[in-house]
Amino acid sequence: MRVRVLAGVVLLTTLTLTGGPATASPAKPGHPAPTGLRTLADRADLRIGTAVDMAALADDDAYRAAVGREFSTVTAENVMKWEATEPQQGVHDWAAADRLVDFARAHRQKVRGHTLVWHNQNPAWVTEQAFTPTQLREVLRKHIIDEVTHFRGKVWHWDVVNEIFNDDGTWRDSIWLRNLGPGYVADAFRWAHQADPKATLFLNDYNNEGLSAKSDAYYALVKQLKAQGVPVQGYGIQGHLAVQYGVPGDVLANLRRFEKLGLQTAFTEVDVRMPLPADPIKVQAQAQGFTALLQACLLADKCVSYTLWGFTDRYSWVPGVFAGEGSATPYDENLNPKPAYAALRDTLALAGR
Ligand code: XIL
Repeated sequence: MRVRVLAGVVLLTTLTLTGGPATASPAKPGHPAPTGLRTLADRADLRIGTAVDMAALADDDAYRAAVGREFSTVTAENVMKWEATEPQQGVHDWAAADRLVDFARAHRQKVRGHTLVWHNQNPAWVTEQAFTPTQLREVLRKHIIDEVTHFRGKVWHWDVVNEIFNDDGTWRDSIWLRNLGPGYVADAFRWAHQADPKATLFLNDYNNEGLSAKSDAYYALVKQLKAQGVPVQGYGIQGHLAVQYGVPGDVLANLRRFEKLGLQTAFTEVDVRMPLPADPIKVQAQAQGFTALLQACLLADKCVSYTLWGFTDRYSWVPGVFAGEGSATPYDENLNPKPAYAALRDTLALAGR
């Protein structure tokens, strides 16, 4: 790991001197094509991942080939969420998630499990039934035990709780907070650990990249959970950036303070959207957004993975959610790499042995 840190200093110096990521040298005749993200990340001792859209994985050959070639971890974009795994109470559907786990095994990839406790994408039977707090706590316990047990030994990281704080650092209103109080977080980690003691258990959120009220709230929570012996082991930064808001500062300092508390860190859902149409300035700003987070990860000691929330604009969630925005991933809709792809590749190459 120390080698990577030393190489990383060189990396940052190089980038500072050149004012930006070096562009990849084109393949010369008789020379092999530039190496892909997965191989370069291996050399830099980092896992690189993508969220996977299961319909695309089944139907789109070029997409499927790229998932296997470019990435060493996969995350289910939707199929491990509660609404997908238990659509009716007591009726589980693991089929799609199992297909992803099988794909990962066949391609020697690790799986990031996403996500056990969230305010979104819960089944209607959970949100629309009038459970007492005692009943709801049991419903949540059973869900976590069932799902983590189903995937025991097959999931590397679990995003145990997702998006539990508001940007100002206050607790986010949710069915869990309202009925169970903040103690649901400690419970969730304990249940997940009980069901798979070997999985690494993460907190996960957005707008928590740098030092901020939100990341301060996580820092205080982790200290408290650690003091109570709760098995919280990872701090996940989604990394949904947008060129119009700029690149967050203090990212490395933030990673380091969580690592000092004994946590691993990870970027879990990186994309960098832009107001459409794209232009060369936005495209360059996007490349810088991707590399700023990757550089922080490479310079930290325990940042173990960097995951894209989809790698191609063909299937990105962004246009459907952010009106007028898009082009948020490193490959365009035809699966051609954009400057962001070259920037990621060059950053990994500089950091690798
Ligand atoms: C998104 C998926 O990408 C969409 O397909 C789905 O419709 C909604 O959820 N933060 C998260 C992810 O933690 O689970 C979200 O994924 C994106 C924001």
